[in-house]
Amino acid sequence: MSSAAVDQYGVFGHPVGHSLSPFIHGVFAHDSGQQMSYRAYDVAPEEFTERVHSFFAGGGRGLNITLPHKIAAVEVAQELTGRAAHAAAVNTLVLQGESILADNTDGVGLVHDLCDNLGLVITQRRLLILGAGGATRGVLAPLLGLEPAILVIANRTPQRAEALAAAFADLGVTQGVGFPYVGDTPFDLIINATSASLSGDIPPIPAGAIGPETVCYDLAYGRSAMAFVRWAQQSGCARAVQGLGMLVEQAAESFRLWRGVRPETSGVLEALKERIGSV
Ligand code: ATR
Repeated sequence: MSSAAVDQYGVFGHPVGHSLSPFIHGVFAHDSGQQMSYRAYDVAPEEFTERVHSFFAGGGRGLNITLPHKIAAVEVAQELTGRAAHAAAVNTLVLQGESILADNTDGVGLVHDLCDNLGLVITQRRLLILGAGGATRGVLAPLLGLEPAILVIANRTPQRAEALAAAFADLGVTQGVGFPYVGDTPFDLIINATSASLSGDIPPIPAGAIGPETVCYDLAYGRSAMAFVRWAQQSGCARAVQGLGMLVEQAAESFRLWRGVRPETSGVLEALKERIGSV
């Protein structure tokens, strides 16, 4: 079958050459027997809106949206899901009839990885999330939906953490603080959503915040997660995990939205761990 005859999907990013999404969706399509193509498109910010419209006008069925377009994609759609509105960012577009629906599957992907792949219990547990940027905002509503005892947001710029905690206070027990003020009581789960690892920095939280039962999770994967994962391991946590599982699970949720089938994720995740490292 020629590629023009199959439904077209893709990811828009800039840069996008490093994206693992074509590999992930290729395996999903193969394993679930879906006839579709999926490719990466390097799209500069100034071209984003026009390229989205021409993709769909040309027969495209769905898109993943990655950096730096996740916020711009909120405006490109005619309809926004509730979770995309909470996140104020979009990672999935789907053509429904004549209109473009925008969704955000990052948070639900994280929740699948934490609960299903890693077997963690979040309900009534103490959660700490490091960072108060877009990555944090994207996962707060689904995390609070699991009803943790408390979700503390800690950030280098404390005002951003306070503002985010206040914005989500109607969904659960939240608190926004600067890194030194997260307290000395160990958390059950610490999620790194800062971009500090890119510069090799570790958020300066008190040593007591990590205990032998604490699971540490970086939303990033590969080299970007390395500094935090190593630091967490050296700090004596129970387990330190990079965000490869979240990447695969958010992709599976996008795939479900597009095709009505949730693909099996464990095979792709194992393949990626072999390729990228298994922490
Ligand atoms: P994203 O959308 O990826 O979250 P962002 O909105 O720029 O990107 O947010 C990046 C986050 O990483 C912020 O919480 C930022 O802290 P500030 O709000 O104080 O800027 C955090 N961050 C980036 N570099 C950091 C560093 N070296 N140490 C600690 N936090 C850092």
